[in-house]
Amino acid sequence: MKQRVETEKFYPAYPIFVLTYLNETGEPQMSTGSSSYTLGNSMVIGVSAESNASKHLYAGQKFAVNFPNTEQLGLIEQGGFSSGKRNDKIKVHQIELTKSDSGGVAYIDACPIVFECTISQTISDVDYHTIFANIDTRLFEKNLVDSDGHFIHEELDLVLFSGDANERKFRKLDTIIETVGGHS
Ligand SMILES: Cc1cc2nc3c(=O)[nH]c(=O)nc-3n(C[C@H](O)[C@H](O)[C@H](O)COP(=O)(O)O)c2cc1C
Repeated sequence: MKQRVETEKFYPAYPIFVLTYLNETGEPQMSTGSSSYTLGNSMVIGVSAESNASKHLYAGQKFAVNFPNTEQLGLIEQGGFSSGKRNDKIKVHQIELTKSDSGGVAYIDACPIVFECTISQTISDVDYHTIFANIDTRLFEKNLVDSDGHFIHEELDLVLFSGDANERKFRKLDTIIETVGGHS
């Protein structure tokens, strides 16, 4: 039997990422997010209309999606607890950026997984901007890839974001994994 819950938000547990992108003068910026989905080579993210990110993420722009691991909670909070409209988070927190070798924006190499993306379109309302992007490149730390170039599932260490309007929490991934197929 279910109980109806009155809350303004509920996040079942989404991977946290730190976006890096450029402002109008070409200075790198960073913003933390978790609202996203990927399907094939597409990535869709949601940012609040009042954020610095929403000002600089529009069709044709490039950005990087940097997925921190569980040792990088500090980075997550540095990107998510203040706005780039008021301070230069990359400079203040001395975030080391690595130049893309494929024409993308600079990314955070310390993060285990990075997607380099180009925005195809945005849909904006007064509260949120929904950003549709193409994933141009996927960059993985060496420990996540086997000698055939395949992803090593057991090595994945990302931070998930879950909770309701009352409280959100960081969550680690478990290493218990199951093969897809053969369960029905
Ligand atoms: C774990 C975490 C997840 C977040 N997810 C989102 C999100 O998906 N979309 C969003 O607009 N803000 C999200 N935020 C809040 C923004 O990071 C925050 O408003 C930040 O100040 C925006 O920075 P900016 O104005 O420099 O873009 C999240 C914050 C944290 C800590």
